[in-house]
Amino acid sequence: MPNSNKINFNNKFYITTPVYYVNASPHIGHTYTTVAADVLARYHRMIGDKTFFLTGADEHGAKIEEVARAAGKEPQEFTDEVAASFQLAWGELNISNDNFIRTSNPEHKKAVQKALQFMYDKGDIYLGKYESLYCKGCEQYLSEKDLVGGLCPDHKIKPEMMSEESYMFKLSKYQEELLAKIKSDELEILPIERKNEVVSFYENGGLNDISFSRKNVKWGVQLPWDKKHTAYVWADAFLNYLTGLDWNGSINASLVKGVGGIKNEKSTNLRYSRGNIDFWPADVQLMSKDILRVHATIWPAMLLSLNLPLPKTLFIHGYFLIDGQKMSKSLGNVITPGDLVKKYGVDGARYLIVSATTFGHDGNIGWDKFDEKYNADLANGLGNLAARSVALAVKMEKSKIKNKNDNLKLKIKQSWNRYQGALEDFRIDAGINIINNEIKYLDGYITENKPWELIKNEDERVGAVMYNILERIRHIALMAYPFMPDTAEKIYESLGLGMIEKVKFEEAIKWGGLEVGINVKKSNSLFPRI
Ligand code: MSP
Repeated sequence: MPNSNKINFNNKFYITTPVYYVNASPHIGHTYTTVAADVLARYHRMIGDKTFFLTGADEHGAKIEEVARAAGKEPQEFTDEVAASFQLAWGELNISNDNFIRTSNPEHKKAVQKALQFMYDKGDIYLGKYESLYCKGCEQYLSEKDLVGGLCPDHKIKPEMMSEESYMFKLSKYQEELLAKIKSDELEILPIERKNEVVSFYENGGLNDISFSRKNVKWGVQLPWDKKHTAYVWADAFLNYLTGLDWNGSINASLVKGVGGIKNEKSTNLRYSRGNIDFWPADVQLMSKDILRVHATIWPAMLLSLNLPLPKTLFIHGYFLIDGQKMSKSLGNVITPGDLVKKYGVDGARYLIVSATTFGHDGNIGWDKFDEKYNADLANGLGNLAARSVALAVKMEKSKIKNKNDNLKLKIKQSWNRYQGALEDFRIDAGINIINNEIKYLDGYITENKPWELIKNEDERVGAVMYNILERIRHIALMAYPFMPDTAEKIYESLGLGMIEKVKFEEAIKWGGLEVGINVKKSNSLFPRI
């Protein structure tokens, strides 16, 4: 494939987001990861890769139990409600996830029990005693080094000293093997700064055995060999990446090899149910830096313990601040996906969120910036371009729109190469820039060629000029599809074409896909100005 040196998806693509804690409803941070994953999933489906996109809810642990009780509800009832609010939000944002995994799902729990039993039988889990500082907010043990002024830096609360009988996971056993795999990029961590952080963590102190069970937490997965204990919430949560593919906890030969039985066929719109585990290993797991450390230590160590292949890439995107501040209920600056959709529409919200920052770097967002970008890129950019071009074409006799070969054809090929290279390297923002440059270029072409004058003067050049404009818009719509699927489909429709979802990619990106004599139809304004 063009312009990229590390594409090795074998025509299958498995992408995950973290399972989000259901102690609160979805906010813009969760939305960012989910929309970014959706863009990549839609892109891979569009190019014909057999694709599986997983997201879900992380429902166990002391904190969630506490929040549920405070709300006067049983944990199950409470998590049912919050998990539903996540599903609703993703539905509203047109997220194309193939499954929504909930860790309180009985099948998930059974698989977790089976997996932990396997690790226990192998001797990787043993009974010990654990004593450490524990932050209830993080659901994680912290070391003195992690604290700032004696407090958890994320939750600003004092961690408690905990000492208890606990089953321990022999994490230390996997130190050398994991470090080697991370250094060699067998387990790739992107961007490179994040890989360096992980490597230096391994090299300075590295992995110690960790507590893998809790005696005093009832809301969790019971250890099958000792029912007084429930599984450490992260151990339970990580396995979602496998149970989300309907894995039942058995370690079979094809899974161990990670070859899978995925056939190379177009997957658009399929919802899989059987044999999904063949999608493992994940091609990319998206998350932000808050949970990189555990994903680069405990998670791959569990996989090694289970004799399973590691994910190919962990991609760590940046963390959002709202107008320079951490998002929090007490500051009252939480932005929800619903707020965005209400103001900017579904595709406006999707676009604004994924274009807010360079993918992989922290970013500052806020309503003013969103308004500005919406008007510049969508109302005055794509929306205006599509509307004025279609309006001109509608005025013309359709038989006069002619495909004449010229150098625009070459240019579009270069843009596609760059666009594919960007998305296949997870440079989502670079993909967006290519689309916006295409829009600017076409705006310039229109200003230069003045098709309205050509129409008025019945100039014969108008046929080719209008063809170029409309064909170019068709390409822009295709490129925009992973980001703004509905808008892209509407543009395709107004060009008298069928659904993008059904196109054959290699054909669709050739110059000349727009038929001569097409029936161009006006559509409603795509992005009304704010
Ligand atoms: N439940 C764990 C993950 C378990 S995965 C086996 C968890 N959940 S979470 O609800 O706290 O979600 C964290 C993830 O949400 C981050 O890794 C990131 O993907 C997303 N974000 C939450 N807040 C964010 C920002 N402010 N900015 C960007 N993304 C962040 O951790």
